[in-house]
Amino acid sequence: MNKFYQKDIISIKDFDKEQLEEIFSFTDKIMRMDSTERREISKGKTLAYLFYEPSTRTRLSFDSAIASIGGNSLGISDISSSSTQKGESLADTVKIMSIYSDVLVLRHPLDGSSRFAAEVSSKPVINAGSGTEEHPTQAIQDLFTIKKEKKMIDGLKIGIVGDLKYGRTVYSLLHGLGNYDVDVHLISPESLRIRTDSTYEIKKRLSFSESTDIEEHIDELDVLYVTRIQKERFPDEEEYLKVKGSYIVGMDLLKKMKDDAIVLHPLPRLDEISTDIDSTKNAKYFDQAEYGKYTRAALLGLTLNQDGF
Ligand code: NCD
Repeated sequence: MNKFYQKDIISIKDFDKEQLEEIFSFTDKIMRMDSTERREISKGKTLAYLFYEPSTRTRLSFDSAIASIGGNSLGISDISSSSTQKGESLADTVKIMSIYSDVLVLRHPLDGSSRFAAEVSSKPVINAGSGTEEHPTQAIQDLFTIKKEKKMIDGLKIGIVGDLKYGRTVYSLLHGLGNYDVDVHLISPESLRIRTDSTYEIKKRLSFSESTDIEEHIDELDVLYVTRIQKERFPDEEEYLKVKGSYIVGMDLLKKMKDDAIVLHPLPRLDEISTDIDSTKNAKYFDQAEYGKYTRAALLGLTLNQDGF
């Protein structure tokens, strides 16, 4: 039996290097298949999504991923039109949605929400973003992008810039990178430094330096992972305004980078990457979004099929 079958995907911490590499091979396999062959993978299976926070890519890439492997999707992306408005609990909503589906994809503003949902759901739960804590499928997509575009992960120098305090993709990515031999350089305003309580474990497996200056190691980086300042998670708008626009990756900065360095971003982008970068060979964030469809199709195919595919 394939080891991912019927397993929840709650945290990237639950995946070791061997498992990540296995998911990458299945993703490559999906990318090589033609559409008819792909549609046989999870024919007739239903994915239910339940999104308590806005999303474009994550939800649509799950939609598109399940359709590409022959399944279908249903769900709630606008919570104001659901029974949550009448006071229904997360537990009851999850129980109901798991009756109508084979796998449930949840995005919720609270840390721990997906783990809680997995406890009450009769079907596997995939965490599509839980509070400021985790976004494991994004990390799998990010690692896959690095591997595809740089042909390796071990040995790379990776800069992560932006909102390192509230950006959940950063925490999942750091835990994922902990499986590899990489040098990580974290760049953020002082008030948005990485949370020490959440990096205690990562520090045992990953060495990283911290700085407020994006130029400090810019010429050494192989990958620059840019993140959005998470306005919606600031308790005080004044604090957001102080850090808004702290880093803008533009042509001037790109010129200081290695010729073959890549720029990634989980998206949505606001002003942190200027649009003139988009047409350069270094900009890989739209490719990253496309890889997300294939990594999610691989994850779904493995979760839904006892013998893999
Ligand atoms: C991210 C998220 O929701 O954490 N978006 C995404 O899923 N690609 C990043 C963000 O919102 O800034």
